[in-house]
Parts: sequence; structure tokens; C-alpha cells
Amino acid sequence: MILGIDVGTGGTRAVLIDRQGSILASHASEHAPVRSEHIGWAEQDPQDWWRATREAIAGVMAASESAGAEIEAVGLTGQMHGCVMLDADGEVLRSALIWADQRTQPQCDWLTEKIGFERLIELTCNPALPNFTLTKLLWVRDHQPEIFARIAHVLCPKDYVRYRLTGEFAMDMQEASGTLLLDVTNRRWSPEVAEAAGIPMEWLPRLFEGPEICARISTEGAAATGLAQGTPVAAGAGDQGAGAVGMGILSPGSVSATIGTSGVVFAATDAPTKDRLGRLHTFCHAAPGRWHVMGVTNGAGLSLRYFRDTFAPEIDYQKLSLEAATAPPGSDGLLWVPYLFGERTPHLDPNARAAFIGITASHTRGHFIRAVLEGVALSLRDTFTLFHELGVPIKAIRLGGGGARGPLWRQIQADVYGQPVELLEAEEGGAFGAALLAGTGIGVWPTVDAACAATIRVAQTIPPQNAEAMNAAYHQYRKIYPALRTIAKA
Ligand code: XUL
Repeated sequence: MILGIDVGTGGTRAVLIDRQGSILASHASEHAPVRSEHIGWAEQDPQDWWRATREAIAGVMAASESAGAEIEAVGLTGQMHGCVMLDADGEVLRSALIWADQRTQPQCDWLTEKIGFERLIELTCNPALPNFTLTKLLWVRDHQPEIFARIAHVLCPKDYVRYRLTGEFAMDMQEASGTLLLDVTNRRWSPEVAEAAGIPMEWLPRLFEGPEICARISTEGAAATGLAQGTPVAAGAGDQGAGAVGMGILSPGSVSATIGTSGVVFAATDAPTKDRLGRLHTFCHAAPGRWHVMGVTNGAGLSLRYFRDTFAPEIDYQKLSLEAATAPPGSDGLLWVPYLFGERTPHLDPNARAAFIGITASHTRGHFIRAVLEGVALSLRDTFTLFHELGVPIKAIRLGGGGARGPLWRQIQADVYGQPVELLEAEEGGAFGAALLAGTGIGVWPTVDAACAATIRVAQTIPPQNAEAMNAAYHQYRKIYPALRTIAKA
């Protein structure tokens, strides 16, 4: 049996699989709510992730009636980019600034000025964005120098959990790509970026490829979780990397579109594909020796949740979807731009704002709901447009997350992307991908490709039916941001 652990934002989920890749049990434990002392701030307590991890492991072991000794390996994944700072004794120095924290634009500007925009992209394949770990560290330098002075180790969320399980400071290449401290092309820390930013290289953990066994459960880790001491722990990957493994997105041409709170379009590549303008994230893949590019819509599933909570709190998602289906493709000209949290791809604008455009008295609530579903897909299409521009091949698109669960949103995505989309038999998310990486690490499968080939099946292919209508909608949609930028600002 292999255990995958996903230290997410809302909670931690543990999944136990067998050597055929079948799910034996899964258990989730919620986190305390994200703390936001000021608009745009987002912090979580690393100890709370560790508490939730212990509960998730206990839950999955109870549900499967298995003993720690039966678990052969552990794989880790989790929310990316969060900045966990530890002192020389391994104690947490302050709560972590997580991926959603947007406070670090001044530090991004400082770093970009110091290194130069183009040079930073040359060195790390990415621009300085508030989501990335290094910029959070620089904020602590600027605002809490007494804490900065005591830092001895910097980790990302799931790597802190690894530290508690094993006592090791380690990180995988895919996660490290989202710190802005990795030389993504050469798969090693970048001394040039670290030096320019004033970050001692000793703070950075050892680097491993996703399936590599990088640590073992320690005596303390075993006592806290019931796992057996010495159980191998694979490096794993950030949630997007492990999620891609769990969906079989490994080689050029395979692409996923996943709608969770945020939405991500992810393509595997066999070399780093850099965008000169930094509009896409270019990261190492969880599969050794490969890379990926991805575009992120900050307010994807969030758009629907926001609409429901604000305008239709009495109805559930299934009913929302039925109501949306009463409106025609294109929502009779009603458009939604989903920039509730600013936008990453393609605008890189934390101050972008959301809007409904084109309302008439004949639009019903169903039109509005459909427009939200369409607007999210239109925003993800912007990433496909960039992929075309940069020559990233798109042969097959697999759907994941909440956007893959209902027939309407699936069809809307096929229509908006203008290509057939694939639905998987089971999509178990990042924890499953982390378990596949760990299984590969201990030799259950010889490679990550073999692990995916043995365990992932396409259930259904959905062709586009209204590509022309949605193509027309996309052309209108593209005009909204430049116009809105001049009037709606934070
Ligand atoms: C990826 C990203 C999110 C977080 C939270 O760049 O910001 O996927 O990892 O899930």
C-alpha cells in the first residue's frame, strides 16, 4: 500500500492506494480558515497543517483497517509557493504567507529592478509575482527584520510536513520552481538569484526529482502518525505537478484544464518553454527531466461560489447548473470576466476587476449563471491562446476538478477550447499523483509514465458542439480587460 498526502489550502487529504493504483481509502481533515488581517493578505499556521496531516493519516488507516507497517511508501503534495520560515532548531518563526497572499508587489518591483526582468526570466524562467515564495521572504526582510535575522531554513507547506515526518529538509524540483529561487532550466538552486536577493543558500533545502526517495519516517514521525519508522518518503511535487501526474499529463501534446478555486491549464513539455513576457509559469515537471508550462485564472471555481453565495444562496450547484442550461450557448451576449482576485494569466494584474458585461432586461438568472461558467472557460482559453503563440502542442485536453464534474461545464469547456475534451474514469487529484510518484520511487512502477499508463483511463471524449458561438464570444471577451482596466481599479 502507498500513501499520498495532499496538504491543500482548505484541508489535508490522505489517499491510500494498492499496487494496482486502486483507491483503498481516503480521508480529509479541514484546516483552520485562512487568516487575512488586511485585504490581500493570506496566512496559515504550519502547525495546523501538521495537525491535519496526522488526522488525515489516522482517518485513512482507520478506514482501510491497515497498520502503519503495511504502508510501503509515502508521497507528498500540497498548496504551492507558501513560505515557511524555521529557526536553527527547526521551530516555526511565524505563520506562513501562503500562495494566495498578494502583499508583495513592492518586493517584486525591487527584485525585478535589482536583477532585471529579462535576466530573471533567463535565470528562473519566470517573472517576480506576489504568489512566489522568494517575494514573501523579502517582505519579512522589509517588515519583520527581527524574524528575518533568525531564519535558518525555508520550506514550502508540504515540505514542512515532510520535515515533521522525517526530520529532513528536502524539496522536489517542481515545487522549487515556484519559489523563484530555482534555475529551472538546469534543475538546481540559482546562486545568482539568491545572492541578488540576499538569501543565504544554506537556508534552502536539498533538491530531488519527484519520485526520488529523499527521506524516511523518523522515530518522532512514527510516534506521531502510526507510520512505521524507516518508511521511505518520496520527494513528491506541488499540487499542480502531482495533479498532472494523477491525470497522466506527462508528454508534449497532453494538456489539462482543471477548475478548482483557481483554474489551471497545464501542458507537459520536454524542454523549458519560456514566455519572454512572463505570462505563463514555466516549471520543472514532477516527472524527472521534463518541464511544464501553465496559466492560472485566479477566480475560476471561486466565480461560481461567489455568485451562488451572493445571489442564490438557497440553491445547490446541481440546481445552478440546471438553471444555467436554460440559457443558450453564448448567454445571449452576456459576458463574465472572472477577475475577482485580480488575474495571473495573461494579465499579471493583481488589480484587475471582475464584471458582467452586456446585461439586458431579457437576461434571466440562468443567463447569469451560464455566463459565469462560460466566462471561466473563456479566461482559461487565454492560456490556450498563449500556448498557440509559443508553439506548445495541444493534442488532447483532459478535464479535472469541479469543472469536470457536471455535463454542462464539460460541454462549455469543449465549446470554448474548440477541441474535444477527455474525462477520466476517476480523478483523484494531487494525493493520488503523489502516491504514484512514491510508488515509482520504491519500484512498483519503473517510471512515472509506466505508473500513469497502468492506472489512468479515459472514460469519455466530449466533442465541441457550439465552437462557433463560443469563438465569437471569445473575441468579445478579449476586448473587455483593456477597456475595463481604465475604469475599474483597486
Ligand atoms: C499554483 C498555485 C495554486 C496553489 C494552491 O501556482 O498557486 O495551485 O498551489 O493550490
